[in-house]
Parts: sequence; C-alpha cells; structure tokens
Amino acid sequence: MHIDRKQSRQMSKAPIVLAVDTPELVTAIEWVKATQDYISVYKLGLEFFLTFGSEGVKAIKGVTDSDIFLDLKLHDIPHTVSGAAKAVSNLAPRYLTVHASGGAAMIKAAVDASPKTHVTGVTILTSLSEEDVSEIGYGKNSLDSAVGLARIAVAAGAGAIVCSPLEIAAIRKAVGPTPIIITPGVRPADSAAGDDQVRTMTPKGAISTGANLVVIGRPITQSWSAGAEAMRDRAAQIASELI
Ligand code: C5P
Repeated sequence: MHIDRKQSRQMSKAPIVLAVDTPELVTAIEWVKATQDYISVYKLGLEFFLTFGSEGVKAIKGVTDSDIFLDLKLHDIPHTVSGAAKAVSNLAPRYLTVHASGGAAMIKAAVDASPKTHVTGVTILTSLSEEDVSEIGYGKNSLDSAVGLARIAVAAGAGAIVCSPLEIAAIRKAVGPTPIIITPGVRPADSAAGDDQVRTMTPKGAISTGANLVVIGRPITQSWSAGAEAMRDRAAQIASELI
C-alpha cells in the first residue's frame, strides 16, 4: 500500500490499537487526546457506534490523525453486509470487522463495498471454549478452525485478521507475510491481574510471534482514574516496549 504523509508520521506511534470502551463520548475524546502521540489506531466498538453513531466517530476523528478501527463485527447475507459497509464508508475507517464465519461471498461483499478500508476478518471469538466451538458445529478445534477462517477471509480479500495471541503463529504461516494480524488478549507483564482476559501474551511477545497490531484496553484506560497525564504516561510506557 502507498504510504502517505499521515502514515509516515504515524510510524513513531506504537503498533497499539486502543480499545475505547467507555459509554461517555466526552471521556472517549479525552482518552484519545491524552494518548494519541503513542497510539496508532483507536478501536470503536458496537456499543460506541450504537450510542453515538457516525457523529461520534467524526468527533473522534476530529481530535486525532490516528487510524479508526470500527469494530462492528458484521455478519449477515452478502447484500446486507455490502449495504452496511457502504453506510460507514464515508467515515473511512482504516479497519472494519466482519465475522469470517459469514463466508467468502459475505467478506468479498464488504471488501467490494469499502475499497479504502482493510476489511478485517474476526476468526473464532476467544470467549468460546473448545466445547462451545464443537457445539456450534465447527468440525475442527478452535486453532484449526481459526486458521481455516483466516485463509477464507484473506482469499476473499480481507486485508486484516483478528485472532487470539495463541493463534498468531499458525495463522501467519497460513496466510503469509502480507495480511495484518491484530490480536486482543494481550497484557503487559506488569499489568494488574483481576480482569477477565485469561489466555494472554505480552504485547512484545505477540508482535514477535507475528502480530502487526495489539489491542489494549484496560491496562491503559484504567489509568484515566488518575488523570490525563497518568494515562498519557501509561500509554508512553507500554508503547516504549514496542518501538
Ligand atoms: O480491556 P482489554 O485490554 O481487555 O480490551 C480488549 C478489547 O479487545 C476489548 O474491546 C474487547 O472487547 C476486545 N476483544 C477481546 N477479545 C477478543 C476480541 C475482542 O478482548 N477475542
């Protein structure tokens, strides 16, 4: 992909996707302002989008030149997903998630509808146990199913894949060097225990295993309770381990 001025400026930012998980738009904007010197991508999820809509996304874009990751996890018939992807294409998100299990035609419909966006295939949700995966009807275990879904997504034109840290190596091997691999479920080594991420890897470990971007939320956003400067410092500290 062509590297423009905006992207070259971002090269000093760490390969971190900050999960902007807050129900308050004012807080979301403050988080972005506090951290944007270090964060390459801001992830806005379904709760954010259903509450604040396109105007909310524009408000975030108004305070940062970092990329937007619209985590809508689309999953429907191709025609409907195409319409949904077109509906958000004016927001020019760099990443837009779809469930890879929607199949090749659905993924391709999203790709065709949003040429400036990396359609991002979500493989197997890490909230699913092996039992769940088998009960749903996947014929293989979660690792092999995730690899299969990643292959389908990339063949259908997806530019990026979301997977668990434990699947990075196998998926990188299956899809080659080009697709962008994005992984949540990372925790800095010094992160306080006690939240709900279970099978984790450090950000550095995930990147050295083959991920291009790590999704981090609470290890950075929890520091907001101590103020904007504390949050900025925390983002800077985690970023320094990655650049
Ligand atoms: O706060 P934390 O660092 O756990 O945030 C991780 C973000 O990544 C959240 O927005 C969460 O919904 C998302 N995510 C995840 N695990 C997945 C997929 C998405 O934690 N398998």
